[in-house]
Amino acid sequence: MTRFKTTELRRKKERGEKIASITAYDLFTARLAVAAEVDFILVGDSLGNVIKGHGTTVPVRLEEVIYHTKIVVSAAPEALVLADMPFGTFKVSAERTVDNAIRLFQDTGCGGVKLEGAEACDLEAIARLTRIGVPVMGHLGLLPQAVHSTGGYRIQGKSERSRKRLLEQAQALQDAGAFAVVLECVEGNTAREITASLKVPTIGIGSGPHCDGQILVMHDALGMEAEYLPSFARKFADLFGAGLQGMESYVQSVREGSYPGAGEYTMVPREERADASDEESARLA
Ligand code: KIV
Repeated sequence: MTRFKTTELRRKKERGEKIASITAYDLFTARLAVAAEVDFILVGDSLGNVIKGHGTTVPVRLEEVIYHTKIVVSAAPEALVLADMPFGTFKVSAERTVDNAIRLFQDTGCGGVKLEGAEACDLEAIARLTRIGVPVMGHLGLLPQAVHSTGGYRIQGKSERSRKRLLEQAQALQDAGAFAVVLECVEGNTAREITASLKVPTIGIGSGPHCDGQILVMHDALGMEAEYLPSFARKFADLFGAGLQGMESYVQSVREGSYPGAGEYTMVPREERADASDEESARLA
């Protein structure tokens, strides 16, 4: 994983090597991602769901993405860290998108930004940002920020019309300069077709095995949520279960008096305790 190399992802596609990526939001999740040597880290606006507990990503603010991205970048200085443009910071106008993307890029030291959709003003902004030197990753298919207008989280690219539209949008993102495209919940054959039609890599989430890479929300992949798991996600660990076991054991140990045990606290010899309290009295006098 190298900090500045968004272009390395394209080389991976050319070599037929799969790209493994994950979301991260803080020191712990960033360190896990780095230790596992993922190809890139995304500070997703999914932080609205898994960090803040909102039902959607819509309430996430630019300041919040900046805050979490700064933490991840400082925890993973060698990694390629991308940051999500939250709702309302783009699509309003290309100018506003460019200004907000530059702020996110400059304030955090991230390696690029991601934005959902391919409206005309998104494409114009992507072209300008790419020229300025801000790498942009596209995002097509299910767009969680549009959930209120689309009416829910549904598979995309099933009908002929939707398939055609996604193919056109993917091509338009590549032409505008996007260095990769996330395909979220895109029907498997459509995702395969888009992947074959693009030079830049596709990164799938819930879009089947034929994308050039995969991304998951770390909380889903590691079982950090007690109950919810999207149907496409796999739980590669049970961190909530392991954490709960540890917590229960801690609470029980405190209540029964077995923690702290010998060696788990500092015992100051009586004479030193006297010295310490003399020093303390002198300091306060
Ligand atoms: O916000 C996010 O975490 C994302 C990924 C799931 C692609 O957009």
